Parts: sequence; C-alpha cells; structure tokens
Amino acid sequence: MDARQARCRHFLSLLDLSAREARGLLARATELKGMLKAGEEYRPFPNRTLAMIFEKSSTRTRVSFEVGMVQLGGHALFLSARDTQLGRGEPIEDSARVLSRMVDAVMIRTFDHAIVERFAAHSQVPVINGLTDRLHPCQLLADVQTYLEHRGDIRGRRVTWIGDGNNMCHSFMEAAQLFDFELRVACPEGFEPDADLHAAVAGRCSILHDPLQAAEGADLIVTDVWASMGQEEEQARRETLFAPFQVNDAVMSRAAKDALFMHCLPAHRGEEVTASVIDGTQSVVWEEAENRLHAQKALLEFLLLPQA
Ligand code: CP
Ligand code: NVA
Repeated sequence: MDARQARCRHFLSLLDLSAREARGLLARATELKGMLKAGEEYRPFPNRTLAMIFEKSSTRTRVSFEVGMVQLGGHALFLSARDTQLGRGEPIEDSARVLSRMVDAVMIRTFDHAIVERFAAHSQVPVINGLTDRLHPCQLLADVQTYLEHRGDIRGRRVTWIGDGNNMCHSFMEAAQLFDFELRVACPEGFEPDADLHAAVAGRCSILHDPLQAAEGADLIVTDVWASMGQEEEQARRETLFAPFQVNDAVMSRAAKDALFMHCLPAHRGEEVTASVIDGTQSVVWEEAENRLHAQKALLEFLLLPQA
C-alpha cells in the first residue's frame, strides 16, 4: 500500500464515519440544499471525476451522484459492469489500481460486499458503497437528514423497521449505533438481519416477529421491498411469507401520532406498503429520495476536500 492509499478515506459503511463527522456531514447536506435552492453556485470540483460502477440497476443512486457531481463542477462516468472489462473477468484489484489512477473517486453498486472492500483496498482514491447485498449507507445519510429536517435530532427516538433483514435493515442497525436511536426490527422468522451485526448493536436493536407490537410508539416506520435485487426468483415465496408484514393503516395507527413513514424506493404498493401509507400525510419518501442528492454532495465534499 502506498502513502496515497493509506491516507484515503472510504465510505463502505456508515461506521466509516465518526458520530461527529456524520452529524457534521448531515448539517452540511442541509446547508448545500439551501444553497442550491437559493440559486447559489458552488463548484469546488473543476476537472474532478467520479466513476460509478453499476452491477445492479439504479434510478436514484445513479442520478443523484451524477447530478451532484455536475452541480459541484465535476463530472461523473457511468460504467456498467456489462460494458467494461469487469464483466469479462478483469480482477477487481486490477480495476481498482487502473481506475483510481485516472479518476478522483469511485462509487460501486454490486452484489457481494467483499467486492467493495477489495476495490477499496487497492484504490488510491475514495471508494463509496452505492449498495451491496449487505449495506446501503448512502441511503441512510438521506434518511437521517430527512428525519432531522422534519422532526429534529433522531437521538433517543424509536425507529421501527418492518420487513426483510436486508441491506437497508443492516444500515439502519449501523445508523442506530452511529446516531444513538432505538431500532425495532419486525421480520418473518428466518429473515432476521445478520447475527454478528445484531450482536454488535444489540443494546440499541431488538428483533421481533410481530409488526404491530414493533410499531408501538414508533417515531419512524420504515420498510423496503420483500425481494431485493438478486432475489427475484424468491418473489412469489416471499409474497406469502411477508404478507403479515405489510405497512398499512393498522400498523401506522400503533405508532406515535406524528410518526413519519420512509421507504428507500422503488416501492411496490399493495405489497410491503399500502398506497394509503406511502401516498399519505405521514410519508416523506419524496424528500427522502431528493435528499440523496444533497447528502451525497456533502459526502463527496467530505471525501474529496481536505478537512479543516
Ligand atoms: N433507493 C435507491 O438506492 O434507489 P435506486 O435503486 O433507484 O438507486
Ligand atoms: N433492498 C433493496 C434496496 C434497493 C434500493 C435492494 O437491495 O434491492
């Protein structure tokens, strides 16, 4: 590892940030959002390039990173694994060595979390996890920013996750630790989140199998698709098993009166959430999606500009 590699910060997990850094980053995200809405130009990245490697589909992640780089005065490259040598078996390590000599940061969306870790270990520039089977940390930056903007500090609040113990659930578990809130996970038997991760955050995260009980007194209710990308063939089986875990009006009525509803999107109305909830007054899903842009601009600034 050379000196540049050793100095480089990556964002593979929320826990790559300290609590102080994470809070500062979210405050900056809201500030950048205000600047954009006020029409203020801010272009700290002339001639800087972000490479974006996608091995899975994306709407929000791709557009928010690409638009974010343009707004910051830089450029983003969309690289599909199918159309690059990565898809023809070029080793991850070699791809990291080559790309990181040309670009200023790399975002990767892939399957196995070990891929982003191997890429980062051989990269001279910051690597950002744009979603793996294990974690989706960029989404959590936007989600916590959205909570803050609506209800203030999330510290000490009760968040209820209803559905699969998947990548989003794992990132909520890490967020509970980083931002110091209580997380209740309600999932079908056999779809619990990773046991080691649960052990690491056990003081802040409980796992239940009753969604109504889990929703009791919650300040925020969150769900996600029942079958994630890569699990398409399990869709039919999961629809049966997850049916009792739909977020509907009965679930929301157990939460606090001013509880918010979030979903990282894309959503399936009539499956994990009813239209009455996602399109209802407690839902903040559109701002949650918009905040991907602002939170990731703050992240790019944090990773690419020297910190004071
Ligand atoms: N929430 C999210 O990451 O959306 P995309 O899959 O569209 O990027
Ligand atoms: N859990 C979902 C999140 C999509 C943004 C998936 O991995 O497909």
